[in-house]
Amino acid sequence: MAGRIPQNFIDDLIGRSDIVEVINARVPLKRKGKEFSACCPFHNEKTPSFTVSEAKQFYYCFGCHAKGNVIGFLMDYEHLSYIDTIESLAADAHVDVPHEDSGFTNKNQEDKQPLYDILKQASELFQKQLKTSERAVDYLKQRGLSGEIAKQFKIGYAPDGWNFLSGNLGKSQDKLKSLIKTGLVVSKDDGKTYDRFRDRIIFPITDQRGRIIGFGGRVLDKGEPKYLNSPENAVFHKGYELYGLYETKQALRKIDRIIVVEGYMDVVALAQNGINYAVASLGTATTTEQIQKTFRTTHEIVFCYDGDNAGKKAAWRALENTLTVIRDGMIAKFLFLPEKEDPDTMVRKEGKAAFEDRIKNATTLSDFLFDNLKSESDINTNEGKAQLASKANSLIQKMHNSLFKDLLIEELSTLVGLSQQHLESKISSATDEKRTPPKTVESVRGQQVQNNKTRIAIALLLQNPDLAAHHKVPDNFKQAFTKGLPLLHELQKTIESNKQLSAAALLERFRDSEHEKALNILSMLQTPETENTDNIVEVYKSLIERLHNEDRDEYFKHKIQNNEPLTDEEQKEYIDLCTK
Ligand code: UTP
Ligand code: MN
Repeated sequence: MAGRIPQNFIDDLIGRSDIVEVINARVPLKRKGKEFSACCPFHNEKTPSFTVSEAKQFYYCFGCHAKGNVIGFLMDYEHLSYIDTIESLAADAHVDVPHEDSGFTNKNQEDKQPLYDILKQASELFQKQLKTSERAVDYLKQRGLSGEIAKQFKIGYAPDGWNFLSGNLGKSQDKLKSLIKTGLVVSKDDGKTYDRFRDRIIFPITDQRGRIIGFGGRVLDKGEPKYLNSPENAVFHKGYELYGLYETKQALRKIDRIIVVEGYMDVVALAQNGINYAVASLGTATTTEQIQKTFRTTHEIVFCYDGDNAGKKAAWRALENTLTVIRDGMIAKFLFLPEKEDPDTMVRKEGKAAFEDRIKNATTLSDFLFDNLKSESDINTNEGKAQLASKANSLIQKMHNSLFKDLLIEELSTLVGLSQQHLESKISSATDEKRTPPKTVESVRGQQVQNNKTRIAIALLLQNPDLAAHHKVPDNFKQAFTKGLPLLHELQKTIESNKQLSAAALLERFRDSEHEKALNILSMLQTPETENTDNIVEVYKSLIERLHNEDRDEYFKHKIQNNEPLTDEEQKEYIDLCTK
């Protein structure tokens, strides 16, 4: 991995790019007063509720509540990773992305290019070979695949023989070295080399950008191992990649859901039968990174496993990993096929419609979770209930704070007959502080919540970072009672140490932080205060002062009610207050 991209480069990049221009190139926008609008690219609609603010450099959809800055838009619209988005914006701006030195420098990136090149050449050779091998073509036909699908997935054939690749591609020492680094060619102790893939059907594995990074190879007849895979190397990391993800993104603009299956053939057979939204983890349990990557592409994952014990086990692992990454708005389901069937055999047997019915009726994550726990404990006894509660707790406490988490706790509470409060206290006492942040604005969910002073103050500062210089958030807030004050402070500090930070860049600083969601909402909050730009400084100043006073009053009230001693200084402040 290359080193971290410096934050000021990202700030600058956001500053250089114009969200209106970027979106307009993809979704034609119409000017509506101060804003621009269009039909939302993230959900189906007939009348436009997608708006882009030129002044704030944010977008927001009043229909599906999609929102964010230029980086967020590109990530969601183009299904790009964060780093790829930065690179794409940088390329548009004709600048190179710098990386902080972390031992892995750009040099490392340069070293990878020969590997990508040789992998691409190998894939092209394998595809050519497929055309000349009747046996391989027959095999694919017998498995129900058309030439068209084979082409789409770049399926190839590695002929029998020990030196096909090295003979064709490894003519120079450099190229032979690259072949060895990719694992396509294996080097023996005596210095001799041989091809890894021989007499196998070849499935190329691509990364997010469509570059080939490795291969899976299947025997045509019986033979061990049935599948052989590229080894891990500089460009191929099994636990991070998903077979078929790139092809799914190529095939579909809007991806309503993705099915995660176990095998290469499952992905290809599903696509052959019109279900072109399946991906496979690469012969391992589905990792959290793979799940995260998939959720960046769609909001619904359906894990599809065999109905046997191994399948159930794999599904449970997927459930555990999903819990650690799932957030509100994301859906995970589980589809179990009848024993002895896999998606490939199933879809060929019953066709697209019936298979999609199964997908529609897949088990929800919470049903799978509780059904499975119930099958392991006797909930008619207190012992069983305690056992179930304790297992459920250890799973739930891995979750991010979310409405979904609350609902799971509620269901658990009904099931075992313990109050939610009781369960929550057990869960939070076992959770590290980071996972259960002190109640800040983040716990104010949704926009229905009353727009209290703190929320408005944060929204004002976030939307107009210049305010930080006009009126500083005092650092002698007691901060003990008013939700959101710590966040207000953090914003002030961030702006102070990065002068001229734009609103969009400020928001970017909080990506992946516990405040990301709350700030995203507040970045688009419209209230009389945020709309009235004429005397915004005054409005902000008076808000901060009122917050300050309220916070101080609450503090004294609490101390006095609880008979807690005041320091000398506080004593003076208090008397001043009372005699004013
Ligand atoms: P399966 O054995 O379930 O194969 O392995 P499959 O996908 O149904 O294949 P077909 O239908 O017989 O062709 C599922 C996945 O596990 C990995 C591969 O990624 C495979 O697609 N696997 C399996 C291996 O890596 N090596 C093996 O020997 C077997
Ligand atoms: Mn199979």
